[in-house]
Amino acid sequence: MKLSIILVILYITCAWVKSNTEDPPPPPYEEFYYMQTLDHFNFYNKGSFPQRYLVSDTYWTRPTGPICESPVLFYTGNEGDIVWFYENSQFVTNVLAKEMGALLVFAEHRFYGETMPFGNSSSLPENIGYLTSEQALADYAQLIPAVLSDLGGSHCPVLAVGGSYGGMLASWFRMKYPNIIDGALAASAPILYFLGTNANSEGFNEIATIDFAETSSEGTCATRIHSAFNEITQMSNTQNGLNVLTKTFSLCEELTELSDLINWLEAAITYMAMADYPYPANFLEPMPGNPINVSCSLLAKETDNIQGLVQVMNVYFNSSGQAGQCNNVSVYTTGALGSDGWDYQACTEMVMPISANGVQDFFPAAPWSLSQLTQYCQQTWQVTPNPNWITTYYQGQDLSQTSNIIFSNGVLDPWRAGGVVSNDGGNDIITIIIDGGAHHLDLRMPNSADPTAVTNARVLETKYLMQFAQEASFKKQLKSK
Ligand SMILES: *[C@@H]1O[C@H](CO)[C@@H](O)[C@H](O)[C@H]1NC(C)=O
Ligand SMILES: *[C@@H]1O[C@H](CO)[C@@H](O)[C@H](O)[C@H]1NC(C)=O
Ligand SMILES: *[C@@H]1O[C@H](CO)[C@@H](O)[C@H](O)[C@H]1NC(C)=O
Ligand SMILES: *[C@@H]1O[C@H](CO)[C@@H](O)[C@H](O)[C@H]1NC(C)=O
Repeated sequence: MKLSIILVILYITCAWVKSNTEDPPPPPYEEFYYMQTLDHFNFYNKGSFPQRYLVSDTYWTRPTGPICESPVLFYTGNEGDIVWFYENSQFVTNVLAKEMGALLVFAEHRFYGETMPFGNSSSLPENIGYLTSEQALADYAQLIPAVLSDLGGSHCPVLAVGGSYGGMLASWFRMKYPNIIDGALAASAPILYFLGTNANSEGFNEIATIDFAETSSEGTCATRIHSAFNEITQMSNTQNGLNVLTKTFSLCEELTELSDLINWLEAAITYMAMADYPYPANFLEPMPGNPINVSCSLLAKETDNIQGLVQVMNVYFNSSGQAGQCNNVSVYTTGALGSDGWDYQACTEMVMPISANGVQDFFPAAPWSLSQLTQYCQQTWQVTPNPNWITTYYQGQDLSQTSNIIFSNGVLDPWRAGGVVSNDGGNDIITIIIDGGAHHLDLRMPNSADPTAVTNARVLETKYLMQFAQEASFKKQLKSK
């Protein structure tokens, strides 16, 4: 079903972008567990669970006196195994930490990775209710003072960093707990892709389309993909057409529902846009550098539009030649990646409306429907989404009451449509737009193929984070006098 594909995008995005094999390894870390409070908002419930976190003091300049200038870089774990994030945020672990002499603390988000409060029963309705962004931030707020007190760093500045949903958490952490977090780097954090903001639900697919249009002269790559979708829709009206599509796309099982094929195609195309990195990387499947450029060049060699689209799919799914003999269109349906957690979050507070109109984007028109989502969520989780809660709770568009947050967004990244791309009011709210950058490219290891804009972005990010840390260190020093 349509919904399920869209809901997991953020999850896949971060968790599966594996680091480049040529990159140096991140610094060594130690793994710990903290006995975390199960319910921060209910005094009758005394449950607790072990929360995993990683610490690396490789580059830390340990404070020796009452002044601490070397900050803590705290990664606000998002929807996946925290080790993945540690291994895929090498600008933070290898570069920033070194330049700032920082302590690295990466905390795992409850209900992901090894941090399962109810073990393998965590997804049961009576248990998964403890999975919210509010509980997760409260976990982090409780964890940090405990960890820093152990390490003798209670007076050190603390900066939150994160990408994607982790970037949202980093910015919200600063907004909600300015007593604990002195500044934040929120990379590719679509905090405005919610109801109650000016964000346009069509923006995500529009940016993906532009990525393909701008890779070929006069946008032919995008217009031909659009035509291919129209031709596929036409063909699906007859049994013979469905048979031909099954064969053309080398599907493992006979196609009976057009939407199965469309969802699979759309997922691959949008993931390709998010992972349009300038060097080879593993994104579910290994892809070459500039995969959109590569697939548009292959498409251009085909005279038939659908054959052209087959080539695009091959770049995404089968660049390694290891895809096997057939394609399974159910590969991205809910649960296929084992992420009940994100599916549940998307059914409660993380309601991010994505639609296609078939005009500004090349997909078949598909309006976003709250009632369809509600029906899915009631069936699957027995919950009704609250699409307005996030903007109510986290201040929505009005950032005037917060400060010291850097929002970075890549021009190629479809999630930019919900990013903070201009500063309309806050103090020290820094917005950075990265030309030629895909989904949180800036957090990845610097690479010789990087566009200049991301190199410049990293310089700015370092400068502002250092400034936030210095200001905080100065204030903490005054306070302790
Ligand atoms: C859940 O974990 C328990 C205890 O570790 C184990 O005995 C049981 O087989 C597991 N159940 C499933 C469905 O994996
Ligand atoms: C695609 O890549 C080729 C080879 O690097 C380059 O010559 C071409 O300009 C690129 N096309 C676009 C439109 O980016
Ligand atoms: C993937 O590539 C290999 C090698 O080129 C080929 O044998 C196989 O049929 C391809 N699989 C699909 C599903 O296209
Ligand atoms: C296709 O993928 C789904 C989800 O992972 C799986 O349940 C199913 O068995 C797969 N089908 C084939 C033919 O591989």
